[in-house]
Amino acid sequence: MKQRGVTVWLTGLSGAGKTTITEALQKKLTEEGYDFEVLDGDIVRTNLTKGLGFSKEDRDENVRRIGFVSNLLTRHGVIVLVSAISPYREIREEVRGKIGDFVEVFVNAPLAVCEDRDVKGLYKKARAGEIKTFTGITDPYEAPANPEIECRTDLEELEESVAKVWSKLEELGYIA
Ligand code: PPS
Ligand code: MG
Repeated sequence: MKQRGVTVWLTGLSGAGKTTITEALQKKLTEEGYDFEVLDGDIVRTNLTKGLGFSKEDRDENVRRIGFVSNLLTRHGVIVLVSAISPYREIREEVRGKIGDFVEVFVNAPLAVCEDRDVKGLYKKARAGEIKTFTGITDPYEAPANPEIECRTDLEELEESVAKVWSKLEELGYIA
């Protein structure tokens, strides 16, 4: 049976756990033999969207391009894991509308928790004024109104978050 394509779009603050959940999903998809691709903001910004910054216009352009590629892959039966802050609701909804097979995962941890984790030291820099438009500090994050899945990474274990996404994909018929 041919695999059904879907874009699994993880949105959330920096340090909320998007990449971590994506990597765990990637591992499970590999083990189970599914065709998938990963589009992570941090990596995409070194090639597909190289040169874009963090203004609203650039972030929207980043999300639009990621959405474009996701759509092509999804149409061809690939499971696409997107991991991008994608802070603006309107553009996320635009991408959802274009792709159709779109599952939004709100990777949610309170700002204070993300800031406390500060894995890359970016929050510290943002507080010090070294980064001007940092999501959650000096730049907005619009939480999804109706995500298919919400992972509270401060309250649940990684396995639980992964299991939630996995069962939703099963329920929607994207994986068996
Ligand atoms: S966006 O808003 O969707 O276009 O962002 P994205 O492509 O996901 O890139 C986010 C990663 O870039 C790093 N970074 C910043 N994030 C937010 N705001 C500012 N100003 C910024 N500058 C650099 C950071 O490593 C983000 O990765 P994650 O994995 O989210 O922490
Ligand atoms: Mg990341």
